[in-house]
Amino acid sequence: MFKKLQQALVWLASRAGEAENVKAVRTAAVMMAKLFRNPAKVPERLRSFRDTIAQHSTETASWVSSDEMIEKGGPFDSCDLRHWVALAEAAGVPFIPAVEVLKLTESEIEFLSGTVSMPNRRPSRSADDAAVLEKNIELMDEIVSGLAASGPPVGSREELVERLYAAMDDVPEGWMVRNIRAGSLELKTLAGAGAAGPEVPEVRFGSDVEVGPGWVRNGNRRRVNVSDHRTLQSVAQGPGGGTSFVARPWVEAARYIAAEDPHRHGTQFAGKGYWPAEWRAFVEDGEVVGVAFYYGWTGSVTPQNAAIALEVRDLAQRVADQAARRQAWPRTMDVEFVRASQHPDLVGNDDVQHWLNVFGRETVSCTLDFLETENGPVLLEGGPPNTPFGGGHPCAFAGHGGPPRFGSRTLTYGVAFSMMEDVLLGDPKTWRETDPENHILSWEEVEALASMGFDDEDADDAVPRP
Ligand SMILES: Nc1ncnc2c1ncn2[C@@H]1O[C@H](COP(=O)(O)OP(=O)(O)O)[C@@H](O)[C@H]1O
Ligand SMILES: [Mg+2]
Repeated sequence: MFKKLQQALVWLASRAGEAENVKAVRTAAVMMAKLFRNPAKVPERLRSFRDTIAQHSTETASWVSSDEMIEKGGPFDSCDLRHWVALAEAAGVPFIPAVEVLKLTESEIEFLSGTVSMPNRRPSRSADDAAVLEKNIELMDEIVSGLAASGPPVGSREELVERLYAAMDDVPEGWMVRNIRAGSLELKTLAGAGAAGPEVPEVRFGSDVEVGPGWVRNGNRRRVNVSDHRTLQSVAQGPGGGTSFVARPWVEAARYIAAEDPHRHGTQFAGKGYWPAEWRAFVEDGEVVGVAFYYGWTGSVTPQNAAIALEVRDLAQRVADQAARRQAWPRTMDVEFVRASQHPDLVGNDDVQHWLNVFGRETVSCTLDFLETENGPVLLEGGPPNTPFGGGHPCAFAGHGGPPRFGSRTLTYGVAFSMMEDVLLGDPKTWRETDPENHILSWEEVEALASMGFDDEDADDAVPRP
């Protein structure tokens, strides 16, 4: 049964990925059509588009590699797993190792993913229009050529594909692979639906093809899956200059908690899932202010969970302190775009300015995720902070402090053991403050609860293995 569910989910995820690609192409087409329908407005729009691209590349070009970060600090990509692993190691905080197995240049990954073709240029009606259109096309070409990677990849497609296979040759069975900036859509879908379990989820399609997290097996050889839509999107949003893929052991959680899957509710796949006990710590300006159950529909207020939340807070604080000591600053483009904007609505908005200060350029602000194991919590990954301008998901805090909107944000103070009544994690429209009691506790309450102690009999038992 579990295998069947995994298979259905991986298939759906791959279809969703395709649909997204189609949507992306369509969006580009619609954007172009709109631009060309109103030629007079095009230069302005294109210029602001170009400015945004310039801001992105200037900011991300200043970010340091994880080796430089450990050596001498500096601003770094908050989404890049390698930084968090390096900081955890330096802090003596347990972490899931990540071994770099594949490096691709920008042109290589572009080549492997196939490029999005631009829609046909439409002839315009009047001669005046034609002249403006000609100008706009020039401007567009200039922008697109500025975006283009540094020429075609060296080597043939065969050589490139062979490298994808070779990268997996030394990766042990039972490991997963992901891009430094994000996991694959398949992984996220399986994990989100509670269909991952204690072993690496490998799903067979027919006799010859098997899909694992971040890789595909064809016959008896595996290759890294670099063209996953979620991966590509994340790479595209990151710094230029290429990207890397890492292999990690699949780590068994100490507890798997069974629950009805809120995402599959009301569909033909409705049913129970099994989620690993996972936690997210929220760091603002150097301090861990909150901790949440990552899969917020599986948590509950118990002395055991309170004690673990305190452990997670301490471990996360050690990682944050390590970054601060090294003057290593996680940066997030969503926040930096707002900071760079001169728009009067933003410059004159006190709330916006307040949060830009809290999530300042030289602060340690981030989220840190931990997987609960037999030997205590281990760092799974770090990521962008939860801000009013985007960034990390608030997990079980969703809805706390009211609906999320630009300039104000979900509050993440204390411990969120589970989501408030009627709040669905995946649907921000449901994020309302209902009643936090029995879901979100202050640190004092959590400390009191943890000090009640528990013995093994009270502890939430790991459910029978999925
Ligand atoms: N090495 C691993 N061992 C066990 N579970 C993992 C591992 N890597 C990922 N997972 C599971 O998959 C989920 C998504 O993976 P993650 O690496 O956090 O990618 P993303 O950046 O897409 O969130 C995690 O929340 C976790 O449940
Ligand atoms: Mg994650």
